[in-house]
This record gives sequence, C-alpha cells and structure tokens, in this order.
Amino acid sequence: MNVQRIPIARPSFLGNEKKYVLDALESGWISSIGPYIDRFEKEFASYHGVRNAIATHNGTIALHLALASAGIGQGDEVIVPDLTFIATSNVVKYCNARPLLVDVDPGNWNISLQSIVEAISPSTKAIIPVHLYGNPARMDEIMKIAREHKLLVIEDCAEAMGARLGGKKTGTFGHVSCFSFFGNKIMTTGEGGMCLTNDDELASKMRILRDHGMNLKKKYWYDQIGFNYRMTNMQAAIGLAQLEQLDSLLASRDAIRSRYKEKLASCESIVFQETGGNRHVNWLTTVRLKGLDFESRDAVMNELSLKGIDSRPVFYPIHFMPFYKDPVYSPGANKNSIAVAREGISLPTYVGLETENIDYIAACLIQTYEKYSV
Ligand SMILES: Cc1ncc(COP(=O)(O)O)c(C=O)c1O
Repeated sequence: MNVQRIPIARPSFLGNEKKYVLDALESGWISSIGPYIDRFEKEFASYHGVRNAIATHNGTIALHLALASAGIGQGDEVIVPDLTFIATSNVVKYCNARPLLVDVDPGNWNISLQSIVEAISPSTKAIIPVHLYGNPARMDEIMKIAREHKLLVIEDCAEAMGARLGGKKTGTFGHVSCFSFFGNKIMTTGEGGMCLTNDDELASKMRILRDHGMNLKKKYWYDQIGFNYRMTNMQAAIGLAQLEQLDSLLASRDAIRSRYKEKLASCESIVFQETGGNRHVNWLTTVRLKGLDFESRDAVMNELSLKGIDSRPVFYPIHFMPFYKDPVYSPGANKNSIAVAREGISLPTYVGLETENIDYIAACLIQTYEKYSV
C-alpha cells in the first residue's frame, strides 16, 4: 500500500517529453515560434482528420478565440450547459454576449437536447456542448438542431481527448472544437489549449486574433484588436510527446475505470455516467452518490481526506455563482444539473495509480457513503 496521500490527478511523462523540451531549450526557440508548435498542430490535426489546428496558451482562451473569431458579441446569446467548468460560460461573457445556462440529462450529465430547443430565441447564435468528464455529448442531434436554427457549434472537448461517438472522434462534429492541456487533463502541456476547425476562413481569423490581430502579410500592422493567446514551443514540445503516447494514456485510464466499476459494483446507489455505448474517456472517475445532499457529500469527501484520499466535487451549476444570479441566464430550474452536482464526486484518476490504491479508495468510499446515506 502506498502510504502517501493519494492525489486526485497527476501528470505522467513517460515518453519523449524531457528530450523534446531540452531540444526546444537548446534551440533557443522558447517562445511562440518554433518547430514543435508546427509539428504539434500538424499531428493534432492529423489525429483528428481535421484541416486546421490552432494551438493556444490554455483551453479557456481557445474557447474565447473561437467565439471571438466567429464574431459573437453584444446582444448575442450562446447556449451552454449549466453543469460544466466555469470557463465554458465565462468566455461568452468575455465577448459581452449572454450565456443561456440550460439543463443536462440526468443519465449522461451532458447538455439536454430538449433544453437547447426550449432556450433558442432569435438572439441565439451558438451552442457550446461539453463532453463532461470524457463522456461524449449527443453531437449528431445537436448538429441537427444547429443546422435547423443556423447556429454555430463549438465543442468543448477539454475533458474528452480521444473520446468517440458512434466511432467518430469528439472534436470533429462542431464547426470548431476546443481542447485543454492543463496538468490534470488526459494529455498535458502544463497549461495549453487547441482549436480545431475545417473552416479555413475561421482558422485564419483565429490565427490572426491569437497574435494580437496582426495582418498575416504585413508585419506589425493591425487591422483589429487581437490577443496574445499563443502557445510556446516548450509547451508544444511536451504536447507532441504526450500525443505520441495517447493510446497508452487512454488505456491506463480505462483500466482504472474498470477497476473502480468492479469494486464499486456491490453498491447500487453509486452510479456512473451513462455512455450509450460511446467511447467514454476516463478523465476523472466520477460517480453520483445517490440521495446525498451537498452537506453529506462534502462530509464524505472530508472523511476520505482523513483517510489520505483526495477527491473533488462535481462542478456546481454555474447559475449558483454570484455573478450569474440574474435569472435571465438560467431559463429553467435545471434540476438535473443541481442533482448531479449535489451527489457527484470525482475520485483519483491518473496514469500510475496503483490497483491496490483503487481497491482501498473504493472500499473507503462505500464504507463512508453508507454511513451518510442513511
Ligand atoms: C469543460 C472545460 N472547459 C474549459 C476548460 C478550460 O481549460 P483551461 O484550464 O486549459 O483553461 C476546462 C479545464 O479545466 C474544462 O474542464
């Protein structure tokens, strides 16, 4: 048994990471120009079979870059699931547009189709579905709704690198898709992000806005206000090495999920996301502890912590946040988002997590949950 604390997440660097970073350092290309950026973008695009990949400094600004390049602005509405990381919605506010926070399905925890349809108004310009905790959202139906209403779709793939829906990779359905390579993600660059698109015009706008809005043909000439959203060559060096190992990174996480499922199977009230037979990727092993309230869920997490196990709550619904209190943002009660948030807990998930530690975590979880579920 590993007697140290068991963290919730930890990156693993088992491939060419050190070699490539050292190479980047020694070459002197440490900022946002360099061969690793080109290689990482090319390989990332090719992995997905998409024409354009635009690397960014993190996943939040990848989403912002996508919205800004598509011209989303004042007066526009963008549909976002209420149950997601805050960045998915904040980026809409960065554009001075209005996020419409809609409910999720209780089984797969992803944006509900019915809620999307109910929220659409003449001001609605885009939808940002999120593949929450690595579980693919229902992209075929979402794209159909989007076509009918002429809406832009930006897939938030931050948590779902490598997932598939009916055999097709997530990140290849929407008009743009955005990824995060934060340290706890399936693959990491420390901080980092990526936009993917088959729309060459949008890709070109993203490249311009990523680099302060500088004209592509005339250096230091700016036709518009842009941002410094570039990725560094050192980040890309790590990213390329991680991408080379993606299959094994995913396989390790699959094995962790299977073991958790096996060890938690005896407790019927500990419920996993429904995947509908799609290829879920195990970003963080996350379960609902049915029947708990926020207080008892937190008590379970505290007791796990006393036993040396780090865990984390599922995201609170965004409409709970003080700066989202305006009821206009949340057209419904979003009861499913609240229920999943109230009962949800993420368990340690990282490459290298030992089987005996998974067994220990599962046993502690069942024991603690039973204490608080009465
Ligand atoms: C669903 C979702 N969207 C966006 C982000 C933002 O990514 P980053 O942390 O790289 O800015 C994250 C990452 O934490 C996320 O989980």
